[in-house]
Amino acid sequence: MKVTFLPSGKQIEVKAGVTLLQASRLAGISIPTRCGGKAGCMMCKVEVPGGEGCHLSKPGRAERNKLGAWVDQGTRLACQATVQGSVTVQVPEDKLKAAIRKQLERQAEEDNLW
Ligand code: FES
Repeated sequence: MKVTFLPSGKQIEVKAGVTLLQASRLAGISIPTRCGGKAGCMMCKVEVPGGEGCHLSKPGRAERNKLGAWVDQGTRLACQATVQGSVTVQVPEDKLKAAIRKQLERQAEEDNLW
């Protein structure tokens, strides 16, 4: 099964039952954690675009308790959600990386104008 991580677009093949957090590490994607993958810190939140969520395990009690209504809007804990089919997930960028990427995109646009 293929897991695609956005915004980088990195992909990794994994077996069913691997958590998104494990898959991210195999792919070299950094998802922060503080609780060691025990549904305690919520630092590993990822977004799963509409329809893709059915390719992940159903949220368990611990994940539902942590995420509340967010879980129904496509937010999952990478340490809890396991891969059940090919899936694409959006990993939040840290603020500094997002600012640098936006600046580089602006510069590239300006360069294309000249
Ligand atoms: S790693 Fe802490 S909630 Fe997932």
